[in-house]
Amino acid sequence: MTAGDGPVRLTSTSPVALIEIDNPPVNATSQAVRAGLLAAIQEVERNPQIEAAVIACAGRTFVAGADIREFGQPPREPHLPDVIDAIEDSSKPVVAAVHGTALGGGCEIALACHARIAEPSASFGLPEVKLGLVPGAGGTQRLPRLVGLEAALDLVSSGRMVKAAEALRLRLIDRISSRDLRQEATELARELIGKPIRRTGEQVVAGIDSQSASAKVAEIRRKARGAEAPGRAAELALLAADLPLKEGMARERETFLALRGSEQSAALRHAFFAEREVTRLPGLDGVEPRPVQKVGIVGAGTMGSGIAIAFADAGFDVKVVETSEQALSAGEARITDTYEKQFASGRLSAAARGERLQAIGYAVGTSSLSDRDLVIEAVFEDLDVKRALFRDLDTILKPGTILATNTSYLDINLIAAATSRPADVVGLHFFSPANVMKLLEIVRTDATADDVVATGLALAKRLRKIPVVCRVCDGFVGNRILSRYRQQAEYLLEEGALPHEVDAALESFGFPMGPFAVSDLAGLDIAWARRKRLAPNRDPRERYVDIADRLCEAGRFGRKTGAGWYRYEGGKREIDPVVTALVEEASQRRGLTRRTISAEEIQSRIRTAIVNEACKILDERIVERPLDVDVVMMNGYGYPAWRGGPLFEADRVGLQFILDQAKERAELDGPGWEVAEGLVRRVASAEKFYP
Ligand code: 3HC
Repeated sequence: MTAGDGPVRLTSTSPVALIEIDNPPVNATSQAVRAGLLAAIQEVERNPQIEAAVIACAGRTFVAGADIREFGQPPREPHLPDVIDAIEDSSKPVVAAVHGTALGGGCEIALACHARIAEPSASFGLPEVKLGLVPGAGGTQRLPRLVGLEAALDLVSSGRMVKAAEALRLRLIDRISSRDLRQEATELARELIGKPIRRTGEQVVAGIDSQSASAKVAEIRRKARGAEAPGRAAELALLAADLPLKEGMARERETFLALRGSEQSAALRHAFFAEREVTRLPGLDGVEPRPVQKVGIVGAGTMGSGIAIAFADAGFDVKVVETSEQALSAGEARITDTYEKQFASGRLSAAARGERLQAIGYAVGTSSLSDRDLVIEAVFEDLDVKRALFRDLDTILKPGTILATNTSYLDINLIAAATSRPADVVGLHFFSPANVMKLLEIVRTDATADDVVATGLALAKRLRKIPVVCRVCDGFVGNRILSRYRQQAEYLLEEGALPHEVDAALESFGFPMGPFAVSDLAGLDIAWARRKRLAPNRDPRERYVDIADRLCEAGRFGRKTGAGWYRYEGGKREIDPVVTALVEEASQRRGLTRRTISAEEIQSRIRTAIVNEACKILDERIVERPLDVDVVMMNGYGYPAWRGGPLFEADRVGLQFILDQAKERAELDGPGWEVAEGLVRRVASAEKFYP
């Protein structure tokens, strides 16, 4: 018999019934799913023909969690913890049959079942902290009861997913299926009939001493850089060793509900949906992407190699070309080395390493690129060099091939104009390391065809990257904002702050690293070369801070030379009196009396600079929506996701407030100070970023 016309179906075969959840796209536990699941469990309990049950899901995945879209609304009964308790309390064994991803509430359902079996490709996780939450349906209490405190602390506070093999090792699951998941789950359920039921909530957790517990929580908080949820989740997990399930769950629920209404959770939910929304560009509905399988990469330096790896990892046929044998073999060595390291650390199997290496071919000269569907250049950042290359490619590539440039600053309109097919030219701006960083700026010129933009978005999906489509301007979205942010950081130096003070203020804002530490890591020489190139065109009225130039003149290019904004001894970053002296001299040259600048002022000024530039970017229609800016800053530049990105945060803080602060500090009219014109215009239009 099959019952239930909602998203949960009960097939009451004897002796093992099947409870199937079918709520596309990801079987989230909406109110209808919770009600259906509860009714099904009650029927299993009531029906004497049924002696055990299997919970499985239709479609692409097991339950991927609570329905995030319901979080803004008042909770409706039945609540997930009650449904899950009913599963655990069942007097008949219930087995979870997991495929796809069992996340959040889905993982919590599985934890409360009496046994768990999963397909080898399945994964498990409690990613609630990534939404600014703690698990809210027993996850923090049941997980330690299955896997122990150490593993549970890691999983609940990081939100990381584990694959079936690791889940089995951790004892999170009991079996991995080798043939047919549902059939094997049914067999497991049959085996459990008549045996004492093993309820997760009744298991005992070995505690850890309070000193190491506090140390662990402190470490988790430090790593969370201002995000509240990871520390709270860890504290809750620790309770599992001391409190009975019911009490622990009551504490968990209280925290869950409090965090659900928090600013941080609202920001992280915004981040979650914004990362998906960027892939849906207004005006591109129904535009078919071009088929791409054969990809050419011109340039085998750091960027080109990273891009080649990203494409090979995603199953493309890749050809890397260089101008000389020497450069080509250096590139090949770089790529091979990356794969060897992944293999040595266990992240890649020998078979996968072989496949990836096989997928990449190498050649000298561009002539071998004639069969490619897409060619990406990652050569020296110089307009003439790139234009010459595109002119050459234009004569070689077949019609319809997409020509992409990985430039980070140059005018792609001018690069496109060097070809006879500007509609096929687009910017694909990867971030370094290109095989790791998630962000991809897709830059359309005035001439780029819609289906080329659509292809960029489709490629991003295959590469598992987060794409943001923008138009041409100096530095596009991210680097354009970054240069304002850096500029402001340097103004702060001249006015009284020191590099480590600026870095510390921004690290406590939530950035993984402050701008000067980042610059030392990336190397100061590249930006120096660019500044020298742009110097002839610089507006003489612009307030130009030359401290970085002086560091470079002294050969201080950052970590790689042992000194930059800091000095490095044994790899450790240390404040350098030489830099302090240079900074003080710079203030003197500018005629500024140095003053103490608070961390709060540093944070606020950097935020103003970022938001101001973002307003201009929106005004100029470089991107279509504010969320595009947020996604760039969170995924490419370390803007803390728990703040939701600069524009989401600006709305919350209030644009008028940000502007008032800037006015108070006279940022609007001080000599050479940045004029906050973007902000001023936006405030005058009284438009919010988000409705
Ligand atoms: N609630 C509502 N919608 C969800 C959702 C959820 N939990 N998870 C995914 N979706 C939606 C997405 O918004 C997207 O919708 P769209 O097509 O309209 O944009 C669609 O499902 C498909 O999602 P993806 O594009 O992300 O598909 P992928 O295949 O790339 O990834 C996934 C699937 C791994 C499940 C990924 O969507 C994911 O990580 N989802 C979030 C999982 C999560 O955070 N769960 C915890 C929720 S909180 C919770 O459970 C609280 C509990 O403790 C009480």
